[in-house]
Amino acid sequence: MTSKVRLCPVADVKDGEPVGVFLEQLPALAVYNVDGDIFVTDNMCTHGNAMLTDGYQDGGIIECPFHGGSFDIATGAAKAFPCQVPVKTYPVTIDDEWVCIDQP
Ligand code: FES
Repeated sequence: MTSKVRLCPVADVKDGEPVGVFLEQLPALAVYNVDGDIFVTDNMCTHGNAMLTDGYQDGGIIECPFHGGSFDIATGAAKAFPCQVPVKTYPVTIDDEWVCIDQP
């Protein structure tokens, strides 16, 4: 059985306000609420040394704080130049009102 990692309480993630989660032995993660649905991606932009949680969420899109690149939060697809490499996404489960991912 795959073990789960608890990232943060669901209630801490407001629509449009991504939350950074920094846990030992995991890459920096970003947790999003898009219209009530929760998503998790790597927090580091694939273009440079920026945390996506320092950027701006517009619906299902996260805009990097540097250079104006952006990603689709649900799929990780790069949506705006200069981002070209998708950001990694993680399947989410909700356990006891916590946002969880499988132990990578
Ligand atoms: Fe994110 Fe350049 S570091 S767009």
